[in-house]
Amino acid sequence: MASVKVQSVSKWFPRRDGEPLHVLQNIDLDVPEKTIVAIVGASGCGKSTLLNIIAGLIKPDRGCVFLNGVKASEFKDWRSMTYMFQEDRLLPWRTAAQNVAFGLEAAGVGRAERKARVAETLELVGLSQFAKAYPHELSGGMRSRVALARSLVTRPTLLLMDEPFSKLDATIRSQMHDEVLRIAKLMDMTIVFVTHDAEEAVVLAKQVVVLNPRPGRVRETRMIDLPYPRDPSAPAVHEQARALRQSL
Ligand SMILES: Nc1ncnc2c1ncn2[C@@H]1O[C@H](COP(=O)(O)OP(=O)(O)O)[C@@H](O)[C@H]1O
Ligand SMILES: [Mg+2]
Repeated sequence: MASVKVQSVSKWFPRRDGEPLHVLQNIDLDVPEKTIVAIVGASGCGKSTLLNIIAGLIKPDRGCVFLNGVKASEFKDWRSMTYMFQEDRLLPWRTAAQNVAFGLEAAGVGRAERKARVAETLELVGLSQFAKAYPHELSGGMRSRVALARSLVTRPTLLLMDEPFSKLDATIRSQMHDEVLRIAKLMDMTIVFVTHDAEEAVVLAKQVVVLNPRPGRVRETRMIDLPYPRDPSAPAVHEQARALRQSL
């Protein structure tokens, strides 16, 4: 089970000309286990930077991150966490199954177990029939499922996603939301994701953190107290998304 705590995190990026860029200011975030949290805000307000700091890819200049109550700098169990990027980053010369197997190969998992777990994970995302297909043979939605499967194959408890569905059309995106919710529940996952889409935030998240730009600060944290699954066309969802959009 995974929880995330971000405590008073600030970040500056050096600039060749002039003052360092103040990207994040005093960010606090509390993600209890098995919760889905959305980080929303205008482009350039530091959402990806914050996610990268949570993932340990970037070090904060001030403050710290706790993963399962352990300081990120002392955290060892990185395999329990996975990151889904904005682009699917599939390797074009590998089949869907081989793309999904990647993380297991890196972890030194043996061939037989790899095969079983890849098959199981492709099944989980509804892609068993396409195990041998290459990325160029797949639709955008299917590629997105492969990317999701690749993230899930190590059975993480924490899933970080940076606008992973932003390039999909509305219908497919909505299908991916259903998949993510189903799988999150099945696997008891905690999810922190970034989006600039208010509806996506309201359909998926229990807690929505709104960032203000330059430097990125938490403007407000909104609780979305609607039962899952949330129908994107339901009035209550519309109302919450509208309110969130206004706050953006
Ligand atoms: N590695 C970096 N070096 C310098 N500036 C960066 C770096 N990464 C991001 N930035 C800058 O920090 C700001 C926030 O970026 P980012 O976190 O990607 O925002 P968002 O994901 O909300 O669009 C932007 O102005 C961006 O240009
Ligand atoms: Mg970004």
